[in-house]
Amino acid sequence: MVAALRWQVEAGADEAVGELPIDRYAAARAAKPAPTPAPTTSPKKSPPRPAPAPLVSAEAQRANARALAAGAGSLDALRQAVEDFDGCALKLTATNTVFADGDPSSDTMFIGEAPGAEEDRQGLPFVGVSGQLLDRMIACIGLERGGQGRAGAYISNMLFWRPPGNRNPSADEIATCLPFVARHIELAAPKLLVFVGGTAAKTMLQTTTGIMRLRGRWFEYETPDGATIPATPIFHPAYLLRSPAQKREAWRDLLAIKAKLDGA
Ligand code: URA
Repeated sequence: MVAALRWQVEAGADEAVGELPIDRYAAARAAKPAPTPAPTTSPKKSPPRPAPAPLVSAEAQRANARALAAGAGSLDALRQAVEDFDGCALKLTATNTVFADGDPSSDTMFIGEAPGAEEDRQGLPFVGVSGQLLDRMIACIGLERGGQGRAGAYISNMLFWRPPGNRNPSADEIATCLPFVARHIELAAPKLLVFVGGTAAKTMLQTTTGIMRLRGRWFEYETPDGATIPATPIFHPAYLLRSPAQKREAWRDLLAIKAKLDGA
């Protein structure tokens, strides 16, 4: 029993949606018509099946995402476009679309990887255990998601839907959501960008260099309209929870963000 449950969790089914299990085989058996007697004459030709709907390629989904993102003239329009977008399969298994939290007029925008279970439940980024650590980290340098301007933190992710079982997002899923993320940054126009964790940092900086060598450095992120925004990667709080010895480096990085904001 425990092994079966563990197998389900590993396969991504980590939420119970009902009190009792449903035997779908029984339902299918009950709905099945009584077997027809064997034909005595030669079988009739069955009517032609309708042609299957054409599959939309990943490239077509990305092109659609690019067009929708470019057409969104405001953050509200972009949020709506993301909520209406059906081109990322993660949406099928997610409970909520997780767009952003905090005041978009904040000087600092944080971009993480993807929603987890708690984020999926609440429809808000970074509200689980690692999000609580992120809140404490940014509070140390005077930022909070309820704040505005210099004191505010606008928070989002690379992906707007939770990967089942918190698996790593695929390259295709990231590429499909990327036009929305780039437009998100362009419309929010923060003074500073902070990429939270290796996936966000590598994707947004278009590099294969790992977070160990990216953190502690400043980069210029270029928006689709050609503006540049100072950007820095930090360790993901989920990593810091597993490797508390790295909090020392994270603290240095936070102080560098504070110094940048104070000088901005
Ligand atoms: N980890 C992330 O990268 N983002 C979240 O929203 C939650 C956990």
